Amino acid sequence: MSMTTDSPAAAPQFLQDLKRTHHCDQLRIDDSGREVVLYGWVQSRRDHGGRIFIDLRDREGLTQVVFGPDVDKDAHELAGALRSEFCIGVRGKVIARVGSDGKPAPNPKLKTGEIEVEASQLHIFSRAEPPPFLIEDDIDTNELVRLKYRYLDLRRPQLQRNFLLRSKLYQVVRSYFHEQRFTELETPFMVKYTPGGARNFLVPSRLNAGKFYALAESPQIFKQLYMVAGFDRYFQITRCFRDEDLRLDRQPEFTQIDVEMSFVTEDDVLTMMERLAARMWKEILGVEIPLPLVRLPYDEAIARYGSDKPDLRFGLPLTDLTATVRANNGGGIAFFQTALDQKGIIKALRVPAELAAQLSRAELDKLEDFAKGFGARGLARCKVTPEKEWAQTPLKTITPEARAAINEAAGAEPGDLMFFQFGSAKVVNAVLGALRLHFGNRFNLIDKSAWKFLWVTNFPLFEHTDDGRYVAAHHPFTSPRPEDVEHLGVDNSRVYARAYDLVLNGNEIAGGSIRIHDRAVQARVLEALGLSVEDLRAKFGFLLDAFKYGAPPHGGIAFGFDRLCMLLCGADSLRDVIAFPKTQKGTDLMTDAPTDVDAKQLEELFIRVKLQPGA
Ligand code: AMO
Repeated sequence: MSMTTDSPAAAPQFLQDLKRTHHCDQLRIDDSGREVVLYGWVQSRRDHGGRIFIDLRDREGLTQVVFGPDVDKDAHELAGALRSEFCIGVRGKVIARVGSDGKPAPNPKLKTGEIEVEASQLHIFSRAEPPPFLIEDDIDTNELVRLKYRYLDLRRPQLQRNFLLRSKLYQVVRSYFHEQRFTELETPFMVKYTPGGARNFLVPSRLNAGKFYALAESPQIFKQLYMVAGFDRYFQITRCFRDEDLRLDRQPEFTQIDVEMSFVTEDDVLTMMERLAARMWKEILGVEIPLPLVRLPYDEAIARYGSDKPDLRFGLPLTDLTATVRANNGGGIAFFQTALDQKGIIKALRVPAELAAQLSRAELDKLEDFAKGFGARGLARCKVTPEKEWAQTPLKTITPEARAAINEAAGAEPGDLMFFQFGSAKVVNAVLGALRLHFGNRFNLIDKSAWKFLWVTNFPLFEHTDDGRYVAAHHPFTSPRPEDVEHLGVDNSRVYARAYDLVLNGNEIAGGSIRIHDRAVQARVLEALGLSVEDLRAKFGFLLDAFKYGAPPHGGIAFGFDRLCMLLCGADSLRDVIAFPKTQKGTDLMTDAPTDVDAKQLEELFIRVKLQPGA
């Protein structure tokens, strides 16, 4: 049987006889004269003066293959049938690319641009219907279509590169932890449901009528139990499940590099993890990250940047004016006084004159809406005049003394613009933090090639909810700082946690803490949270029991693996580094999940579905 065929019967023989010699990015001019075998997909096909040219694509790159009637008649004839995305194998000889004048005619855009493969044999494994979109980078096909045909989308070179990087990253992580004598251990996905924390996905138990498992939002409790069990250093690259509202940097199932260590302080965990980060950047991108990384206490991050994950690739810090305004008895501005009376704060963002000059009146007015989108009631501003007075401002009643003091605090110079927020700390920081990021982009202040890592440390242990309760900011096993234990239950707002986040270019890429292993401290934290020991026993009894039997001091952290991949790949969305992601509505457009299930299945699970009108 001729080996040049599209007969399925011949495929095994072709594959048996002709083993791949190269990937499609490998051949160079020095390979001229070599017999090679390549496999891949037809990227494009052109007919030129009786010869047929194709670009053959595999996961590594492209190689031009040429079919001529003078080289092999059968191959040339069969090549006439080739179309985009046919899956083929070719055998041929590497030759230099020459133009019609006989001179070298390399294609500088391709790594293999100096050569082409003159095909003597062709096998078509599979024909392809015209794909719904071109398999190319920089296509503007609607993402919904790309997700429906995800297996085609994944053929695009950019996505192939992303997943090869992702694969390499697993190896870097594993070899680092093995060198550091960590043990790789697994934890269950189907776990006990515990209210609080992220919202869980539930899994009905057929064997236990009316009962449910939760899908683990993280291995947190199990990794602590591994410490009690004496494993000393644990890591796992594992899937976590959270039924959250989705964004570009959030998926309902995502991967963590999860870590826990015994007999450690914050310093030990931070040092171990920043070395891992440096190793990743070195091995994946060849970039040296200088260590140790900067550490910034939470309160300072919020004060200067309005965010606990500040992007340090540019400046534009915020200025807290609360004390300045208070010292000036409200400064003659009724809004300021109200903010002070209501225990709010007053902050400003100063835009230096050379940048401020780029903003038209219309653009400035639009910023008002931008601020409202983040919960502000408005966005007061002023332009600093040559005499350092304030123009174009609603804050006209400001006293000269307060104005001078605010100018001084914010470092205002003539021509600068200042933007003000006053009221609850939460809203003030959210608005000005977002405005700072907006200006960073608007004025091109962000150096896109920079990697600005920082640790944010000393988080508050509690979060104050709008209804006046205190809830654990991290989880109830996060240790308070020893010096703050005395404030527990007395003034919870003064209690800081031994918790830390790793932030990169404005993204939270890891978070963790030193845990409580002392039962007396644990009891005080629970009390401060308004949880009874009974409440806690019902939720975490097994962990409290475990702590009775000689729990070592321990702490840990988890990296968002997908977020790391996203940043290392230069992608904007987790969907570019998760092979089969969900849409913002949590659906999989390719398989159509989630779907209805039939009544019998529900019956077996003792479940009745009752849809609310409008659901
Ligand atoms: P945390 O909840 O901070 O900590 O999660 C750790 C890191 O996981 C990433 N991440 C996500 N990535 C994609 N999609 C999501 N929905 C998502 N949610 C979180 C973030 C985050 O920094 N058990 C603790 C860790 C510990 O204390 O050791 C935990 O899960 O990059």
